[in-house]
Amino acid sequence: MLTQTELKQNVADAAVEYILPLLRPDVVLGVGTGSTVDLFIDALAPYKNRLRGAVSSSERSTARLEAQGIQVFDLNQVQGMPVYVDGADEIDHGLNMIKGGGGALTREKIVASVADQFLCIVDESKLVQCLGGFPLPVEVIPMAREAVARRLARLGGKPVLRAGFVTDNACQILDVAGLAIARPTELESVINGIPGVVSCGLFAHAGADVVLISTQDGVRRLD
Ligand code: 5RP
Repeated sequence: MLTQTELKQNVADAAVEYILPLLRPDVVLGVGTGSTVDLFIDALAPYKNRLRGAVSSSERSTARLEAQGIQVFDLNQVQGMPVYVDGADEIDHGLNMIKGGGGALTREKIVASVADQFLCIVDESKLVQCLGGFPLPVEVIPMAREAVARRLARLGGKPVLRAGFVTDNACQILDVAGLAIARPTELESVINGIPGVVSCGLFAHAGADVVLISTQDGVRRLD
């Protein structure tokens, strides 16, 4: 029986196999955040001379990329990327995701939006029938926190401030439990429309393009 870390390692290795044909000396990759992505960065390191570098979605991933000798570019220096690689907290069969367990959702959404495709890498525990079992992270401007929390409660959620956590954008996270998300794109639009919300962890308007799912029987692909 493979552990969750071994499953994550297998999908990180599979992601490197997936991107190898895309690597060229002028190519910049988009890199997400989390424990699965940490393993992906480490697995990518032996191939670092075959790419120009990466755009990172967090200070955490930037530190890991640089420690592996992979050059990190500011998004403003980059015109495009063939692929953005990131994990997820939940993904459904329509390739809609909940992200932001690591608190990097806003930068993840921005970097992903510039890439030609979103490659999501998860272990099988992340695949769900309906999103919402994992509390939905919502990044908020601090002065709007309580006002946004009241609006989220009116939508049926139970927002809880992520204690002691400040995002890379100097904002806060409300983790919203209790939402059974039947219509992810609609809910994403509604939450994005609340004044004070920086972004929400629903990736439905722009979900994943390809998912690699690590199972006890190997890594399988959904797209
Ligand atoms: C960070 C994220 C991560 O992709 C998500 O939390 C999954 O993390 P892990 O690979 O550690 O399970 O959205 O903001």
